[in-house]
Amino acid sequence: MLNIAVLISGRGSNLQALIKACQEKSLPATITHVISNRDNAQGLAYAKEAGIPTTVLRHNGFPDRETFDKAMHQVITQSGATLVCMAGFMRLLSPWFVKKWHNRLINIHPSLLPSFKGLHAAQQALDAGVKITGCTVHFVREAMDAGPIIVQKAVPVLTGDTEEILSARILKEEHKAYPEALTLIAGDRVVIKDEVVVIKSVGQEQY
Ligand code: GRF
Repeated sequence: MLNIAVLISGRGSNLQALIKACQEKSLPATITHVISNRDNAQGLAYAKEAGIPTTVLRHNGFPDRETFDKAMHQVITQSGATLVCMAGFMRLLSPWFVKKWHNRLINIHPSLLPSFKGLHAAQQALDAGVKITGCTVHFVREAMDAGPIIVQKAVPVLTGDTEEILSARILKEEHKAYPEALTLIAGDRVVIKDEVVVIKSVGQEQY
């Protein structure tokens, strides 16, 4: 069984999708802890409803990024988690934390990376005039929105789309992509070779 800690800052719809997948047992994992850097994150309610322990760590109570991340690391390890999932966690992580959780730290981003990194990814897609965008679940590296890609889902950009409409269409796919990526990891099917993810097929011993 995979033990996961989830980091959130706000709405928490991806957290909700992960909770549902665990409850339905399509994802063989346990969410051991949810950490938010904001006490008003709506996502905290989903965790509480599901009986998952939560911790709020207000980042302005810490002198610097690394001290905050060390406090977070302690909560995560004490919970027994061996994998950390960022789900709308709106805070850059320190190089210390990223190194500590190398290949055990995952993020979801609302674009087909490496396109449209950073904030307002759907608006960036609209501005670029692309006809397909989507979402990406990837391992976290020090550079923002970079790292080996585990799962991507494509979403069409339609005439008349606004940032809000397109973001909502992407979000629906995010809710499938995140549990799917974690299911691959839980099944020990994800191998990173030269910074590229190779998905082992079931029963495959050599890759
Ligand atoms: C999602 O679009 C995710 O890709 C991005 O932040 C948003 C979080 O949404 N990193 P939610 O809090 O999971 O609803």
